[in-house]
Amino acid sequence: MCGIVGAIAQRNVAKILLEGLSRLEYRGYDSSGVAINNEVGVRAHRAVGKVQALKDKFEATPLDGKIGIAHTRWATHGKPTENNAHPHFSGDDLAIVHNGIIENHDKLRNQLKTQGYVFKSETDTEVIVHLIHQELQSEPDFLQAVKNALKYLEGAFAIAVTLNDQNHRLVAARKGSPLVVGIGIEENFVASDQLALLHVTDQFVFLEEGDVVEVTRDGVTIFDSQDVIQERPVHVFNHNVDATDKGEFRHYMMKEIYEQPKVIAACLEGRISENKVLTDCFGADSSFLKNVENVHIVACGTSYHAGMVAKYWIEDLANLPCTVEVASEYRYRKVAVPKNTLFLTLSQSGETADTLAALRKAKELDYLTSLAICNVPSSTLVRESALTLLTNAGAEIGVASTKAFTTQLTALLITAIAIASEKGALSAIKEAELVNSMHSLPAHIDEALKQDVAIKKVSERFANKHNALFLGRGPMFPIALEGALKLKEISYIHAEAYPAGELKHGPLALVDEDMPIISIVPHNSMLDKLKSNLQEVAARGGELYVFADKDAELQNAEGVIFTEVLKVDEILEPIVHVVPLQLLSYHVAVVKGTDVDQPRNLAKSVTVE
Ligand code: G6P
Repeated sequence: MCGIVGAIAQRNVAKILLEGLSRLEYRGYDSSGVAINNEVGVRAHRAVGKVQALKDKFEATPLDGKIGIAHTRWATHGKPTENNAHPHFSGDDLAIVHNGIIENHDKLRNQLKTQGYVFKSETDTEVIVHLIHQELQSEPDFLQAVKNALKYLEGAFAIAVTLNDQNHRLVAARKGSPLVVGIGIEENFVASDQLALLHVTDQFVFLEEGDVVEVTRDGVTIFDSQDVIQERPVHVFNHNVDATDKGEFRHYMMKEIYEQPKVIAACLEGRISENKVLTDCFGADSSFLKNVENVHIVACGTSYHAGMVAKYWIEDLANLPCTVEVASEYRYRKVAVPKNTLFLTLSQSGETADTLAALRKAKELDYLTSLAICNVPSSTLVRESALTLLTNAGAEIGVASTKAFTTQLTALLITAIAIASEKGALSAIKEAELVNSMHSLPAHIDEALKQDVAIKKVSERFANKHNALFLGRGPMFPIALEGALKLKEISYIHAEAYPAGELKHGPLALVDEDMPIISIVPHNSMLDKLKSNLQEVAARGGELYVFADKDAELQNAEGVIFTEVLKVDEILEPIVHVVPLQLLSYHVAVVKGTDVDQPRNLAKSVTVE
């Protein structure tokens, strides 16, 4: 999704901004631009496509200056054209970059047009810059003019604005979209994501809802939503390794798949002892574990699939009703909240607009409390939730989520066991058994990764496929959904997933020799039922790709391509057996030559509705 970088320094900021944009590429975008503010005015380059196209323009016609703003755009209002790419201008001296959506842009645009403003783009963003320009006609102070203009805006935004005047400063603001300030030595920065600034600083201040910030070379002044100056804490970025380095891997996605043993171990650390879940991992007050009577999970995309797996665990282990819902649905419906319901959100980014809106709605209702399982400690979701369990996966760059998903599952299993244990639904012996299994998770994932070469071979058979069907039963059904999502996200093959028992209620009509059916068949209690579903497919000439463990007693046969997966305890199957599906979609995408890390039209962090 859109990304912002801004810089003010004593050196030329063009390179800093371009490097910042490269670091934001993972979020997904379709055009980019940079405006440089120097003694001759504000000048910009914009380009459609990759940031490299923008760098080429800078190479051909350099722009130098000590103040600048930059942007990667993910089209919402208007096609991904150069005209619609940010920065947008009002006159020659005032430029803006913007993330988010201005909902009343039509009305504002019409008003501005009647006052003589001419629009050069189809974006909602251009409305903001003209509004600031209009304010500047009666309010000479740039900072105050920006503050005045913001009052007209409805919707979500993060902005950075530059004006060519005597006062060397950037003005930025956030409402509904994330923005951080990077603190340097006699230079300061803003960005939508701290990763964009790791090449220049590791010190960050996270802006809060409604903040407006004035950034100069020497300092940063933050005004809160009541226009009162606030001091906010400086956080030091503490990832040992810069996540934007691909290391020996060709793609971030593969690097992140291979990081899973390490990050799952990090997710378990301090959360489980030898034989029990350490309930203080939920914070000082873990009394909700005892009091909870229902769980409602809300999330989007891959995180939603993690929630669907957790439903099986919570109902099975804790014997509590658990419902799971996509955030974009939850936020707009009337909900009935059963007594003592835990509101649980899942999000790798912690900035997904729908999930945040769902949380805000839930806080107005009568829930027991809100718990966020999230990967970004500084995110809005974490800051706004009563309780947090961090997944500790480290920054994930590939748009298709992998390690963020398996660490979410790990954190969810910890939560399910903790609830079950505190509610007295789980004996100490059973808890010890489960926790013991969890200790072996990193080693199991390591083993699962050894199937990489075999799966790569299988993937070649998908080069010319246009459709695929994934089947699973029980908690492996959401894993089938996740496998289908991964495949469509990065290889653009149309894929669907069904609970295997639903096959004959419709999807069987699609099965013929061109339709690959992918099924994960661990040797669990549903095996015999799943085997009969597979017979139904084989009988119709469908091509079957079966991932099963040794004990399932399945093997290669006519029309059946069998890949052996590791035998693990049933409770761990969803976490371990999603790995072969991640590898499959990765290799299929490589075979098809798609952009694995930045698939078309998708964004890593969806900060608009
Ligand atoms: C986007 C990402 C997905 C992610 C979804 C929810 O669509 O591309 O990978 O699953 O958002 O994001 P969240 O950060 O809330 O988990």
